[in-house]
Amino acid sequence: RLTCVIPAGGVGSRLWPLSRANAPKFLLDLTGSGDSLLRATWARLAPITPPERVIVVTGVSHRDSVIKQLPELLTENLVTESEPKDSSAAIGLAAAILELRDPDAIIGSFAADHVIRNEVLFQRAVETAVRAADQGYIATIGIRPSHAATGFGYIAAGQARGDLAPFDVYDVTQFVEKPDEAIAREYLEHGGYLWNAGMFIARATVLLDQMAEKEPEMVVALREMAAAWGTERGASVRERLWPTLPKIAIDYTVAEPAADAGKMVCVAAHFDWDDVGDFASVANLLTRGRGSDLAVLGDGAQVLSDGSSGIVVSESDRLVALVGVEDIVVVDTADVLLVTTKSRAQDVKNLVGRMKVTG
Ligand code: GDD
Ligand code: MG
Repeated sequence: RLTCVIPAGGVGSRLWPLSRANAPKFLLDLTGSGDSLLRATWARLAPITPPERVIVVTGVSHRDSVIKQLPELLTENLVTESEPKDSSAAIGLAAAILELRDPDAIIGSFAADHVIRNEVLFQRAVETAVRAADQGYIATIGIRPSHAATGFGYIAAGQARGDLAPFDVYDVTQFVEKPDEAIAREYLEHGGYLWNAGMFIARATVLLDQMAEKEPEMVVALREMAAAWGTERGASVRERLWPTLPKIAIDYTVAEPAADAGKMVCVAAHFDWDDVGDFASVANLLTRGRGSDLAVLGDGAQVLSDGSSGIVVSESDRLVALVGVEDIVVVDTADVLLVTTKSRAQDVKNLVGRMKVTG
């Protein structure tokens, strides 16, 4: 009874200038496989749910690209938003639509822009999460942290729940979205914390009722939009209500309060997971741990290298020549050339922020 929702929004500003407003991260092929991250997400869900039970929520400007990348997606399962309102609205609307289709429906929300290896283990984790959701829990999937990252949610794993699965399901005693570095380091030293993989599995009604405790008006609006969904007045209801929704991530409206209320469980992941947040991650994925190599991304990229490592992303037919530079990041697009290092790759977003301010 699982229906999957793929919220596909945001730009991925740490991947600029490859990732742009009209070519957001989820539409890009960052693994050199030929598939975008969105297409790979779709393919990963295919063995779990048939295409008629996969919903994609995206910005209206990405509609055509999404249809092109996902020809199997049913028209009635493509939800477009007039303006981005973050993940609570995107996932919440899908949940409200599902709740009307089936009051017992289970929703699984899966980020559109991650890389996962060992898909069979991923599928097994989702099956376990669905069993927990069936018992009324909000389930999430946890990743063993490797460093004090500040871009993730942290899950404090409590009592093991052998009744839900033979191993590796835990009560969640606390969920903290994107702590600062000092706190992230504390969690890492303390142990017992997992990164939130950005997946939530729950009964649609349970998820919405939880959201309603924090954002009651929002959930009323979402349910009103869902009730009008597909009818003649659907568009006008959405036009009226969507702009009134608060812009807030689901980690704040659902995950943090659900953990405090003891309603969340976490399935520990045994698959490889990467959120491909910046070019250093892209390079590491492409070289698969052979960190001293030079990774190259782009059809027809021309690279000449002598004693250099890092990554070259090329969208042009210009030759990129490197001599003796290590851990370098070069991204060559039609209108922008970016040069940085792997260790500073995450700071690209600061530049993007400055450009927005200065226009
Ligand atoms: N449709 C739509 N509209 N989708 C959105 C919007 C929006 O306005 N904003 C975000 N999304 C989608 C993204 O495309 C992604 O699939 C998912 O919602 C998560 O949003 P991100 O913006 O990527 O969140 P994050 O990476 O900062 O943090 C989340 O993911 C981490 C793991 O990568 C949180 O859940 C963290 O707790 C988690 O650790
Ligand atoms: Mg993300």
